[in-house]
Amino acid sequence: MKYKALYGTHDILPDDSFRWQHLEDQVRKVFSLYNYREIRVPIFEETELFARGIGQDTDIVQKEMYTFVDQGKRSITLRPEGTAGVVRAYLEHSLGEKSPLVKLFYLGSMFRQERPQKGRLREFHQFGIEAIGSADPSLDAEVIELAVRICDELKVDDFKLHLNSIGCPKCRSMHRDEFLNFMKNKLSSLCDDCKTRYLRNPLRMFDCKNEECIEQLKQAPVMVDFLCQNCQMHYAQVKKYLKELNIEYLEDKRLVRGLDYYTKTAFEIKSDILGGQNTLLGGGRYDLLVEELGGKNTPAIGFAAGMERFMLVLKMQKSLKCDEKKLNLFVATLGEEAKSFALKLIRDLRRKNVTCETDYLQRSLKAQMREANRQKAEKVLIIGEEEMKKGKAILRDMRSGEQTAIRLTEVGRVWA
Ligand code: HAM
Repeated sequence: MKYKALYGTHDILPDDSFRWQHLEDQVRKVFSLYNYREIRVPIFEETELFARGIGQDTDIVQKEMYTFVDQGKRSITLRPEGTAGVVRAYLEHSLGEKSPLVKLFYLGSMFRQERPQKGRLREFHQFGIEAIGSADPSLDAEVIELAVRICDELKVDDFKLHLNSIGCPKCRSMHRDEFLNFMKNKLSSLCDDCKTRYLRNPLRMFDCKNEECIEQLKQAPVMVDFLCQNCQMHYAQVKKYLKELNIEYLEDKRLVRGLDYYTKTAFEIKSDILGGQNTLLGGGRYDLLVEELGGKNTPAIGFAAGMERFMLVLKMQKSLKCDEKKLNLFVATLGEEAKSFALKLIRDLRRKNVTCETDYLQRSLKAQMREANRQKAEKVLIIGEEEMKKGKAILRDMRSGEQTAIRLTEVGRVWA
């Protein structure tokens, strides 16, 4: 084989793509029930947008972005996530002026140069939402409830909602000193990345995957214990609403998320069946991002989910119940006259939404029947030379094997 899909990318083949369509349809249905409207933003943006939005010190910006210089010497990056681009579009098109709360959803490819493994790819697909314009904790509850609803709708078993609050810059400065003090004499056992994080962005250390660092951080002071009054109240309200909605959650004090734009509420839904890459979706508030990207002070919240991870879970649980659209009719022909009749017939039937196929490989009648069987056609219309002359054909029901003679002029009525 001369060419292969690049490491960390994958083809979604026809035997699988109908399952993806099913997943997408379900997700779109739920998003629209909650009044989110679709936005489609470009797959590449200027690098600066992601560097500023996601944060210079994150693994995504430091190590994982597909960045290149284009012919016009501009630095371009393939989107590693959806939020920054959506906020850019929100600002560019003044969507906030048309509506005080803008509720958007998206589906599409994202790109991160990570080490591929099960559930972790370099080109992967996300579906996600962004609700821009409200600081109300009841919106946090709606967004989280929507995430849970999608898992329910797709029949994911045993998922767990992890919840935390990572406060605002005010709380962070209170946490920072204690945290730095606590970690000071542990520095020598931390990885090089964490040594840099210690100086530049200490909260990022909670995101480290290195086992020694995780161990050292176990007793470290956590953000949620340093929340200012406003953030405390917000968090309490979110939890109250979730309880009222009967949504179970696990308070996860170490949950920080891998992107720097988050404030207050942070959450993830995990499924243990996935093993290492067990986070199905993640999100939270990002009340400062719109301003950071040049807009007015505008609170917002959202989440995104990994579609490959949903596919994996659903396949492992065998709970993806969907069938590919059936082939209603295969028209098997013998002779030129029958073939030309079949072409017109299937054109007309397709206009009546009957899914049809015929033979384009000049196969024998027997081979055409085999093909109809392979393609699981519901019915086969056999038009031989003799039948054609008499204006008749044979209609075979492939399930029962029953065959009936039918006038060619009557075939359309079968699906009327
Ligand atoms: P994220 O946590 O970076 O958040 O990604 C969201 C989800 O995308 C993850 O939970 C995971 O399911 C999936 N995902 C991430 N990286 C990969 C990968 N390399 N391979 C396969 N799946 C992956 C965000 O992207 C934020 N933009 C979410 C958000 C929206 N926050 C607010 N609004």
